[in-house]
Amino acid sequence: MIAKNLSLMFIILCFLSNTSNVFAQETVIPIQSQSHVIVLKVDGEKRLRTVYFGEVLNDKKEYAIIDKSYQFKDRHVGISNSAYTPSGTWNYLEPAIDLVHTDGNISLELQYVKHDVENIDENVQLTSIVLKDPVYPVQVTLFYKVFIKENVFEQWSEIKHNEKGLLKLNKYASANLFFTDRDYYLTTFNSGWAKEMRADESKLIRGIRSVDSKLGARAMLLQSPNFILSFNQPAAENSGSVILGQLAWSGNFKLEYELDGYKNLRFLAGINNHASEYHLPANEVLKTPSLLYAVSNNGTGEASRNLHSWARKYRVFDGEGERLTLLNNWEATYFDFDQEKLVDLFKGAKKLGVDLFLLDDGWFGNKHPRNSDNAGLGDWKENKKKLPDGIGYLVKEAKKESVKFGIWIEPEMVNPKSELYEKHPDWVIRQPVRPEIYFRNQLVLDLSNPKVQDYVYNIVDHLFVENPELAFIKWDCNAVIYNGHSAYLEKEGIAQSHLSVEYVKGLYKVLKKIRAKYEKVPMMLCSGGGGRGDYEALKYFTEFWPSDNTDPLERVFMQWNYSYIFPSIATDCHVTNWGKQSLKYKIDVASMGKLGFDIDVDELSEKELIFCQKAIQNYNSFKSTVWHGDLYRLIDPHTNNQAALLYSSQDKSKAVFFNYVVDSRLKDYFNSHPVKMNGLVATKKYRVKEINQANGSKTDLDNYKEYTGEFLMKVGINTGLNAHNRSVVLLFEEVK
Ligand code: DGJ
Repeated sequence: MIAKNLSLMFIILCFLSNTSNVFAQETVIPIQSQSHVIVLKVDGEKRLRTVYFGEVLNDKKEYAIIDKSYQFKDRHVGISNSAYTPSGTWNYLEPAIDLVHTDGNISLELQYVKHDVENIDENVQLTSIVLKDPVYPVQVTLFYKVFIKENVFEQWSEIKHNEKGLLKLNKYASANLFFTDRDYYLTTFNSGWAKEMRADESKLIRGIRSVDSKLGARAMLLQSPNFILSFNQPAAENSGSVILGQLAWSGNFKLEYELDGYKNLRFLAGINNHASEYHLPANEVLKTPSLLYAVSNNGTGEASRNLHSWARKYRVFDGEGERLTLLNNWEATYFDFDQEKLVDLFKGAKKLGVDLFLLDDGWFGNKHPRNSDNAGLGDWKENKKKLPDGIGYLVKEAKKESVKFGIWIEPEMVNPKSELYEKHPDWVIRQPVRPEIYFRNQLVLDLSNPKVQDYVYNIVDHLFVENPELAFIKWDCNAVIYNGHSAYLEKEGIAQSHLSVEYVKGLYKVLKKIRAKYEKVPMMLCSGGGGRGDYEALKYFTEFWPSDNTDPLERVFMQWNYSYIFPSIATDCHVTNWGKQSLKYKIDVASMGKLGFDIDVDELSEKELIFCQKAIQNYNSFKSTVWHGDLYRLIDPHTNNQAALLYSSQDKSKAVFFNYVVDSRLKDYFNSHPVKMNGLVATKKYRVKEINQANGSKTDLDNYKEYTGEFLMKVGINTGLNAHNRSVVLLFEEVK
């Protein structure tokens, strides 16, 4: 039920001023989750400042006096806590907003006007605060949405004006936070193809650290908008104050961390303003993307679990639903297949016992057949040679094997060798007077153009209209934007610097339209591996592809890092021929997310096939715990010779535990000590059972023994990991 609190002032406190003995009126705005609060306060010059970011206080009246406890003597330093820092007036630090008025003036002052608190439901509260320039008709509204139980905060801003003409925005951040701790440790996640989500933690020093992308599409190829910020100590799993999250935007982003002279930290996040000056017409609203983060005083473990719960409940498409296990043909065939071969592969999917067969790249293009990555993108008609009977035939044949059918597309892209490019060169992002630069032999379509948006929508719509039983889409995006120029924006008289923003907005429009018509179908977000994976796109996708690197040893590290930000239900993990580890190790690692296979099932030996079948049955028995449960990261592979993780069901009656050798040196130490569990109930009794045992392998584990949760968490058990059994999966089941 939506209840709206119409009171504009949450607290208007009157208290005695120390110096003048007069009553002063103060506006204090606490933005509060279950455990944390951001306290904003309007100062004597009507500027909105952040006076506190920390644990909630029981006596809310005390929020009004927090600022009195700080003594930043340099009178300028006090300004660095602006809740949205303007430029060109009193500010000398990195601004949140930077603009040029229609008369050429570059100054902006923002003063508090009013705020509103809306209780969307009992768990979600939205505070909006209106700030205005006293001289120019420019308005910024700051939004703070709080998911109370999950301690998740979502912030964005909206900018509008009423000047005559176009307001030129050089910078337009989503959020501007301020922290008054002693030290700050920032973890960033760096990437590259097959090297996604490599974590670096460093202590922030005075000056600005900025993390950004200028790549347009496939924006996270090198850096990611994900972060962990730990206060006063390096990030730890079960202790310490942290915030972790991301800027939810599928395009160019910029996160800036600036320490002032007192080591207060200013954190600004938003669309990257590089080459992105935005010309805003009067009375139009520019809405910035959301900065999302979970807050915890108990380390990254709790923060991740809260972010996962939030993501499943509020963000990922069908986040609390089910997922389909699948067999993908990409690595089994690459571009080299025909319909007979595919039908044969369907049998493999059936033999394995997975839900769906996913046909990857290479099924389309006739004048320019898609037989390699240098032709065909854009021409989404079945290749007649490979698939003479079309996709409909494949859907039917898959059905005969009781397997659903899904398909790969890369609808934002075009090869110069394609009929689409020949017909519509003006739909392509390219400089008219420079040589084209290709990324994977392809170019990016201009999604700022509504006609291109329709074209991309129709690719998907057409596939479903023709094949109503199509059950899955893998949406790929392999190229960055080089030589950015839009013929459409030029024709419309819109600045070229809008392109990177309008591209992403165009993409979201298409996805929204697809979801309006296709409300159920699962879709995987992919970008040449993990070049895209953000919570704005995940409103439309059920899952994402973290990386083409499926070497399970690498995946232990990569999935560990992804798990800081994303829940397992959204993380696709496939068993492939990558890596030297055993089939068991591969399946165990892939079972920590949404399980899939990308192998030729006919190449498995009889024993291997039986092993896979059993492992998939096991997966089906515990997948609900992995998908909907709570993750406890127990032993970090980055600092140990093993990794250990446990997922427990919400009611803590079931848990599934994974343990891997990640470094073969010091063999004696794999099982020298017990592994202490977490996420169980001390007073419950659990029966332990090892599953996915490889043929002939034997661990020293006392199978079927019963332990109290207390014992498992305080003493732990020896999981039997050793040089031969390099991967162990245990189920814990409550004994009633
Ligand atoms: C990149 C993806 O990450 C792969 O899984 C595969 O779909 C290829 N593209 C196909 O071109």
